Amino acid sequence: MNSKSTSLYHAFTSILFAVFLVSCSSNSEATLNAPENHSSVKAEKSSIPEEIKDVLSKSTCLGCHKMKTKLIGPSYSEIATRGYSEEEIIELIKNPDPKNWPDYPPMAPITWVAEKELATIASWIKSLENAE
Ligand code: HEC
Repeated sequence: MNSKSTSLYHAFTSILFAVFLVSCSSNSEATLNAPENHSSVKAEKSSIPEEIKDVLSKSTCLGCHKMKTKLIGPSYSEIATRGYSEEEIIELIKNPDPKNWPDYPPMAPITWVAEKELATIASWIKSLENAE
């Protein structure tokens, strides 16, 4: 009885140990791959660069515009095909002209984004024009 329970105890602890090992190894794999993989899974081939994404998301643009697909507003790639100059893009962000996009609801004027950031956004949108 006594030796039986000792070996049961051994079996039990070795199972515990095995489980521990398995969970450790899968954990370390996950941490090894986590940061890089996570973003590259989401990133399409031509996705928004991190520094632009920061500006866009804090300016709330990403709530309505995605890189390639239509959301509430047209995608940035589609806006780029209009061939606006950077100045025109900045002007249209501050003062949208809904006539340019009759299939969409009108965008409200954006008044809370600093000129410097508007310039960053505009030159990035402009750069998409020749991206594909
Ligand atoms: C509430 C939704 C919404 C938000 C937030 C928003 N947009 Fe828009 N945007 C739209 C819609 C809808 C259109 C198309 C209709 C229009 O131009 O009025 C548009 C159009 C545009 C255009 C094209 C203008 C034109 O006349 O061709 C640009 C450029 C643009 N948005 C940039 C931005 C930027 C940059 C931000 C963030 C600072 C932003 N938008 C935030 C909905 C939005």
